[in-house]
Amino acid sequence: MTTIAYVDTARDLGGAERSLIELLAHLDLALFQPVLLHARGAVWLGDPLLPAIGLHEVFPPLGVLERRRDEVAGRLVARLQDISQALRLALGVKRRLVRCGAELVHTNTLKAHLIGGLAARLAGLPLVWHVRDILPPGAARRLLHQAARRCHPHIIAISRAVAAQFAGWPVQCHVIPNGIPLDRFTPGPPSRQLRARLGLRDGVPVICNVARLTPWKGHRTLLEALARLRAEGPAFQALIVGEVAFWDDSYEQELHHLAGDLGLDDVVVWTGFRADVAQLLRLSDIFVLPSENEPFGRAIVEAMAVGLPVVACRSGGVPEIVVHEQTGLLVDPGDPEQLAGALSRLLADPQEARLMGERGRQRAQQLFDIRRVAGQVQQLYADILKLDH
Ligand code: UDP
Ligand code: GLC
Repeated sequence: MTTIAYVDTARDLGGAERSLIELLAHLDLALFQPVLLHARGAVWLGDPLLPAIGLHEVFPPLGVLERRRDEVAGRLVARLQDISQALRLALGVKRRLVRCGAELVHTNTLKAHLIGGLAARLAGLPLVWHVRDILPPGAARRLLHQAARRCHPHIIAISRAVAAQFAGWPVQCHVIPNGIPLDRFTPGPPSRQLRARLGLRDGVPVICNVARLTPWKGHRTLLEALARLRAEGPAFQALIVGEVAFWDDSYEQELHHLAGDLGLDDVVVWTGFRADVAQLLRLSDIFVLPSENEPFGRAIVEAMAVGLPVVACRSGGVPEIVVHEQTGLLVDPGDPEQLAGALSRLLADPQEARLMGERGRQRAQQLFDIRRVAGQVQQLYADILKLDH
């Protein structure tokens, strides 16, 4: 039995944590023993799908862990404080790795790559960075590059767009997409009660968006596109699913005000965080995610698996998932007019929309099955550790 130590610094639940939970739930526990090194107060540890594994709290709420990635290398004093905190954390993580008999370290967030990477190096353990971000050129990227030069990680990139940033780095990069539990995200009859409870009118098409409320997810562009669509006249309602995560809580009010100013209050339903995303997708007709430079976008694949056509942006890893004109429509990021045009086209042609959804479902099944993805990750562990399973 090989012990793998997973390291994640996040307290909120994002797609990174959802992906890790799914991976842990599909590991072959006869071969691998996972332990999780996590942050104090991590809300996602309460997720019912997280299997019973060894949990070790190693990240107290500290300045360096609270910083946004664009603030990582801020003023000199803050930077020195950050460095000394990070070193102390890395030493603590290293001690924990040794104590729990870890044989490989798998880090799941940017800060975990840095701190867990240093700890793995100090403990002399092989390291896998599961990279889920596209970093713009700048301080955070330079820091990661320096760390890569010292820690020699094997990298799992969740899309080719994520892998592209490592060209020329001294690392081995493997593109393994995120996996979706296809047994939970299936097409199915919409629940009438749920529709009614959400205040969705019968017979009116539903455009669904699932994303945490963070500026780059493109909610502003979405609202502006919906206002244009409304002016054109087709009947629709929009279900906006998600809460603020890794950002300021006031952003939610800002978006609600914008919707009000654009006269959208009677067509937009804000649900906040929901644990029943598959059900919400089943009562929807079109999925939309106008995020900019989205590294992957689990929510897109979930919608495809349920059989929805997708309208999203031609940037980041999204074109590797959505095939333009086949499983959905891709538009330029930050362009409400194009976005409205794509939505309008699918609303006007439900037959084409259904066909795209069907093709998307097949594509999700072929490429993004969590069982296949978990197999690829385990094969990587076996290759690195020269295991003979
Ligand atoms: N999600 C959820 N409930 C919500 C909003 C999001 O369960 O109210 C899930 C969503 O279904 C997806 C994940 O959170 O599995 C978001 O992952 P994605 O990769 O789309 O975006 P990220 O937040 O990681 O950038
Ligand atoms: C990150 C990315 C998202 C990706 C998720 C899971 O949060 O923003 O695109 O799907 O990680 O890997």
